[in-house]
Amino acid sequence: MDALNATDVCRAYGPRKVLDGFCLTLAPGEFAALMGPSGSGKSTFLNIAAGLARADSGRVEIGGADVTAMGDGAATRFRRRHVGVVFQAYNLLEAYTVEENIVMPVRLDRARVDRARLARLVEALGLGGLEKRHPAGLSGGERQRVAIARALFAKPDVILADEPTGNLDMKSAREICALMKSLNETEHCAMLLVTHDPVVAANAGTVHFLRDGRVAESFAPCGDPAEVSRRYLAAFAAKPVDPAGKDFQ
Ligand SMILES: Nc1ncnc2c1ncn2[C@@H]1O[C@H](COP(=O)(O)OP(=O)(O)OP(=O)(O)O)[C@@H](O)[C@H]1O
Ligand SMILES: [Mg+2]
Repeated sequence: MDALNATDVCRAYGPRKVLDGFCLTLAPGEFAALMGPSGSGKSTFLNIAAGLARADSGRVEIGGADVTAMGDGAATRFRRRHVGVVFQAYNLLEAYTVEENIVMPVRLDRARVDRARLARLVEALGLGGLEKRHPAGLSGGERQRVAIARALFAKPDVILADEPTGNLDMKSAREICALMKSLNETEHCAMLLVTHDPVVAANAGTVHFLRDGRVAESFAPCGDPAEVSRRYLAAFAAKPVDPAGKDFQ
């Protein structure tokens, strides 16, 4: 069974069709990147898949469960157990410590907190010694690692990460990416990562390009950022404009 299966997802804001027949499949344990220009609908899709926003039509299944058919309460419960979301803006709770933030979804689910797993994740993410600190006392990269630990803690089937390296310097971004890839390998959870960075995308098993509301191209980047850039430019290059005012064909 697919970790994630999106079929014909459509979402319009007024007359603008942001998603228009969007289809994407993520196999269990697969690491995929979703790329596309600003405004192409990447966050819109991630929010629908996370059950945080509604599609106009189409469906998204996670581990065979139809997220698009769930009411808000059911979607929230489902997300806590099966989906880890990493937001670009971290969304940490400032009043709580690092440790409390990481275990929050599990606590809200009234499930048991596995202290040994917490210790392992804290260690794997290089957060040792920061457990009792509040987010205000952390760097951007540290906050991002806490957000990733929180997304992973409940052993979700799927991680949805929206530009998790977007606010970081290049070195931290690459470190976080390497960390996510190694966690994908050790934790076997499927990951769909939105990114604008060809180096980050090149680490994925599959790269999907979002254009005109749907996945227009999918390929294996084979670790080659230059190939990702080349294909991206070919897919999204603006049409050259005829000086006489007519577009070239
Ligand atoms: N609540 C909303 N109301 C109206 N328009 C919206 C709403 N949310 C998103 N949009 C529009 O939908 C389009 C897609 O937005 P989305 O946030 O999915 O883009 P994105 O691909 O994630 O872009 P970025 O790379 O800049 O994050 C944009 O044109 C945006 O203005
Ligand atoms: Mg976005």
